[in-house]
Amino acid sequence: MWWWHKWAGFCLLSQQCISSHKSQTLQDYFGMEKSNEVGGWMATNVRNGDRKVYQGAINEYGPRSVRTAGLVGNNTLQLISDIGLESNVLPVKSSDNAAKQRMIYVNKKLHILPNSMLSALKKQEPFSKSLAWSIAGGLFKKVPPSYETMHEVCEGRFGPEVADYLVSAFVRGVFAADSKQLSMKAAFPPMWGRLGPKKAGMARRPAIKNPDLFNKSLMSNPFVKRAKREKWTQWAMANGFSYLTD
Ligand SMILES: *[C@@H]1O[C@H](CO)[C@@H](O)[C@H](O)[C@H]1NC(C)=O
Ligand SMILES: *[C@@H]1O[C@H](CO)[C@@H](O)[C@H](O)[C@H]1NC(C)=O
Repeated sequence: MWWWHKWAGFCLLSQQCISSHKSQTLQDYFGMEKSNEVGGWMATNVRNGDRKVYQGAINEYGPRSVRTAGLVGNNTLQLISDIGLESNVLPVKSSDNAAKQRMIYVNKKLHILPNSMLSALKKQEPFSKSLAWSIAGGLFKKVPPSYETMHEVCEGRFGPEVADYLVSAFVRGVFAADSKQLSMKAAFPPMWGRLGPKKAGMARRPAIKNPDLFNKSLMSNPFVKRAKREKWTQWAMANGFSYLTD
C-alpha cells in the first residue's frame, strides 16, 4: 500500500495518518505519508540498498534510541520480536557508557550532562546555575492551566535553559519531536500528572481489551525477559531505525 505516499498531498496530517481496523485475527494497516519516504522522522544516513555493504558509522537524524522501561517499553520489545527483528537490536545496558554518559550539543560545543545527584549540584556549562537547583525550584512552581507542550510546562517550571537544552534534546531523542509541539499530556502521562497544571485532566488512552492476557504475553516473551535480565535501559537498531520502514 505504500504507493499511497505519492498521493500524500491529500493527507492533511504532518507525519502519518494510520487507521487500522481489526478483523478477527488480522490487522490491516493503511498508511499515508506526506513525504516521499515512509517513517516520519525516522532517518538514517544509510539507505536500503547500501545497508548490506556499508561498514562505516551510522548516523540517525531522527530517533536514535528506544527506551525499555514500563509497559510501553515491554510492548515495543515484543513488537520487535513479533516481526522477527531481534537480531537487529543493539542493546544499551545500564552499565554501558552510553547509558551513563549523555551529551548535548549547545553553541557549537559538546557538553557532558550530569549523571548523578552529586554532579547535578555543581554548576556546569551550558547551564548558568546548577541543574539540581533549577529542577528542585521548579517542582514547587505552578504552571498556567493553558500550558500543555513539553516546552511550555518545563520552561514554566525549570526555566528556559532546561527547556531549550535538556527537554528539547530529550524529546527529540525519545519521540523525534519538537518539544514546542509535543503535548506532555499525550506523550508523558506520568510526568503530566506530576508537573502539568493543577487539576489538569489525564489523557485518555484506548483501553486494552484483555489486560491480563496482554500482561501475561508480555511477561512471558523471551525477548522481553532477556532485556530485563540483561538490564537494558534502551536499544537502537544496528542498521538504523529507517530499516523498520524501508
Ligand atoms: C501488569 O504487570 C505489571 C508488572 O507485574 C503490574 O504492575 C500491572 O499492574 C499489571 N497490569 C495489569 C493490567 O494486569
Ligand atoms: C516487563 O517485562 C518484564 C519481564 O517479563 C517484567 O518483569 C516486568 O514486570 C514488565 N514490566 C511491566 C511494566 O509490564
